[in-house]
Amino acid sequence: MVNVKDKVVIITGAGSGIGKVVAKQFAEKNAKVVCADIKGSEETAKEISDAGGTALAMHLDVSKLDDWYTVKDRTIKEFGEINVLCNIAGISEAVDIVDLVEEDFDRMININLKGTFFGMKVVLPEYLKSGSGKIVNIASLAAHVGLTGLPSYSASKGGVIAMSRQVAVEYAPKNIQINVVSPGIIETPILANNPPEVTKAFTDATPAGRLGKPAELASMVVYLSSEESNFVTGQVIKVDGGWGSK
Ligand SMILES: NC(=O)c1ccc[n+]([C@@H]2O[C@H](COP(=O)([O-])OP(=O)(O)OC[C@H]3O[C@@H](n4cnc5c(N)ncnc54)[C@H](O)[C@@H]3O)[C@@H](O)[C@H]2O)c1
Repeated sequence: MVNVKDKVVIITGAGSGIGKVVAKQFAEKNAKVVCADIKGSEETAKEISDAGGTALAMHLDVSKLDDWYTVKDRTIKEFGEINVLCNIAGISEAVDIVDLVEEDFDRMININLKGTFFGMKVVLPEYLKSGSGKIVNIASLAAHVGLTGLPSYSASKGGVIAMSRQVAVEYAPKNIQINVVSPGIIETPILANNPPEVTKAFTDATPAGRLGKPAELASMVVYLSSEESNFVTGQVIKVDGGWGSK
């Protein structure tokens, strides 16, 4: 049994897809959930509250450092501490590198990589004060294998893995655990940004022969946020139906 009861968990990207399902799994296990997103967080928090859970919606643009400090301060004011940060917010864009424009490359890096940097930068001082803490960052299969049309996305997620590994080693002596979950292709709205033929090719290429479900990823995120995983840090766990092991 994975225990996250009464843990205070900030989840970015909680307004949709994987983040929303992660938020609900935490709430079902009696964690106190901060649903942070640039849009949709109110709906997720309401669904959790209506089901008897504890959740607060907070506006957060992960690429804005001021937003992060506001979320941190409000979380501590409302719940007294922060125990877990799940950096799940992200964007994806399929475009050949030759056609990729600088503004779009920067936007990808600013949200997927800099947003993860900001989150870790803001919560780690709180973890040092309290003497413990967990961070789970979301990368992608695209950081491990060459997927068609995803140069900026692959770069952003590769950066998340390298940065997480470095910070995990540095903060392991402080009783802080930082891990990465690398999803394969998961059924969420983000797939709408890919042409249908790309999604079909992804499905066909997955050894499991199907797309993953957000709940199948969420259970790994919750495990890595629990005390049951206290000796696991600096790891990159692929939840991808076997693709990354081909
Ligand atoms: N679905 C997949 O197949 C898949 C595969 C590999 C990795 N991932 C990663 O999983 C994570 C979640 O993706 P998803 O499939 O649930 O996508 P999604 O589009 O359903 O959800 C992404 C969420 O991030 C939020 N977001 C976007 N920009 C933001 C910003 N600047 N600040 C705050 N929130 C912002 C969106 O509002 C949305 O709620 C992403 O990091 C994505 O790269 C997804």
